[in-house]
Amino acid sequence: MARPGEHEGAVQTPRRVAVIGAGYVGIPTAVLLAHFGHTVVIAERDEYRRSMLQKGLSPILEEDLEGLLAACVSSGRLTIVEDAAIAVSDAEFVFLCVNTPMGIDGHADLSYVDAVCTQIHAALPHGAIVINKSTVPVGTSRRVADLLGRPDVPVVSNPEFLREGTAVRDSFAPDRTVVGGDNQEAAAAVGSLFALTGAPLVVTDAPTAELIKYAANTFLTTKLSFINAMSQLCDALGANAVDLVKGIGYDPRIGFSFLNPGPGWGGPCLPKDSHALLAIAGTVDEEIPLIAAAIETNDRQQRHIVSRIQELAGGSLSGVRVGVLGLTFKANTGDRRDSPALVITSLLRSAGAEVVAYDPTVPSSETSDDLEGLVIVETAEEAARGAKVLVLLTEWAEFTTLDFGALGDVMEQRAFFDGRNIVNLDEARAHGFTAWGIGRS
Ligand SMILES: NC(=O)c1ccc[n+]([C@@H]2O[C@H](COP(=O)([O-])OP(=O)(O)OC[C@H]3O[C@@H](n4cnc5c(N)ncnc54)[C@H](O)[C@@H]3O)[C@@H](O)[C@H]2O)c1
Repeated sequence: MARPGEHEGAVQTPRRVAVIGAGYVGIPTAVLLAHFGHTVVIAERDEYRRSMLQKGLSPILEEDLEGLLAACVSSGRLTIVEDAAIAVSDAEFVFLCVNTPMGIDGHADLSYVDAVCTQIHAALPHGAIVINKSTVPVGTSRRVADLLGRPDVPVVSNPEFLREGTAVRDSFAPDRTVVGGDNQEAAAAVGSLFALTGAPLVVTDAPTAELIKYAANTFLTTKLSFINAMSQLCDALGANAVDLVKGIGYDPRIGFSFLNPGPGWGGPCLPKDSHALLAIAGTVDEEIPLIAAAIETNDRQQRHIVSRIQELAGGSLSGVRVGVLGLTFKANTGDRRDSPALVITSLLRSAGAEVVAYDPTVPSSETSDDLEGLVIVETAEEAARGAKVLVLLTEWAEFTTLDFGALGDVMEQRAFFDGRNIVNLDEARAHGFTAWGIGRS
């Protein structure tokens, strides 16, 4: 498997690549291809992201990204522009990495993809290949081809599987590369751009490639919802979810990955993609009750956690101060899109709680809409001050070594809820805490 640094000068034929959208997918993609020796132009319409990139700085928090990015920018292999039409004007390969948020009735909102097509259709060089890396519904390759109106420009689907927090590692050493298109020659050419990663290549048609991405993410939601449902059962039966995970996870048919119960799945992909797959199935009159149940189980898990916190608070959350540790949807990213932590803080507030939160990526000065109604502080101890319950919702490494003696001293009562099962609860209990986790009391 490839590692950053192994490929300097390894590329036989440098290609000209455009990447549209400098986000969690576009930046690692651009950096990977520039690192492989290709000439990459990235188009980003957001001024903050653009100006950071132009200085060789990453606008997103991703391990190992900054050094690679700076090297690509200073070598001249990666340049940044605002206008997608300019980025594509000399390109052989054009990657669409724009956002596809949840739209009406769960369908993916393709307005950003459509807008790029309108922007670039006249500027695309003859024979360029347009590649959909955004997660898009089955049929989008055809839709893009129609919008471009350029029979000389093949459209290929190349779904992205990287995980935020390990995006660089995942880009340089992916589990697999999937490409799909009507034009198999174009699909193979796109696959060859990633050959240096050494990952298995799955070449298929466009609808299958598009469906693979949704199938992968939705499979993960069902696995997580299953273990979350088991953790609820553990609470009801007095069983221990941590031991249950060990007891089933050693079975290689099950495995430990995505088997940790938690505060419900969230983030920028799993919620919107599971809803989108249901919507896609609906377009051909198919129902997938399994996915609907995974979504319902997720909502139930978040309500269940709030009821556990309420129990720790003594039966009511009205007027109760709750300290929260972690707001991002998982550790090692600054991304809060559809964060389970924000769903839970919102449910806590609806039940009357005052929520004081600390997250290492959120300064107390931040005033984004999704933080409305929360008091943001700069340390775990400040979050705990005056709180009746302290709740851990994101698995940041620093929360595994909490000083329960110091936290207990500033709280109204010593009650702790570990929403990620990463803390040794016996240590909290040794400091007089009533301490519960997910599926363990
Ligand atoms: N975030 C992930 O972990 C992840 C993983 C796999 C797949 N995906 C998929 O990849 C796609 C992108 O996700 P993301 O998280 O990188 O989104 P993002 O919102 O972080 O980045 C998208 C970027 O595209 C820019 N953009 C939109 N229209 C543009 C235009 N016309 N010209 C220039 N820039 C434009 C936006 O300003 C934004 O910066 C989505 O379809 C997502 O579902 C995301």
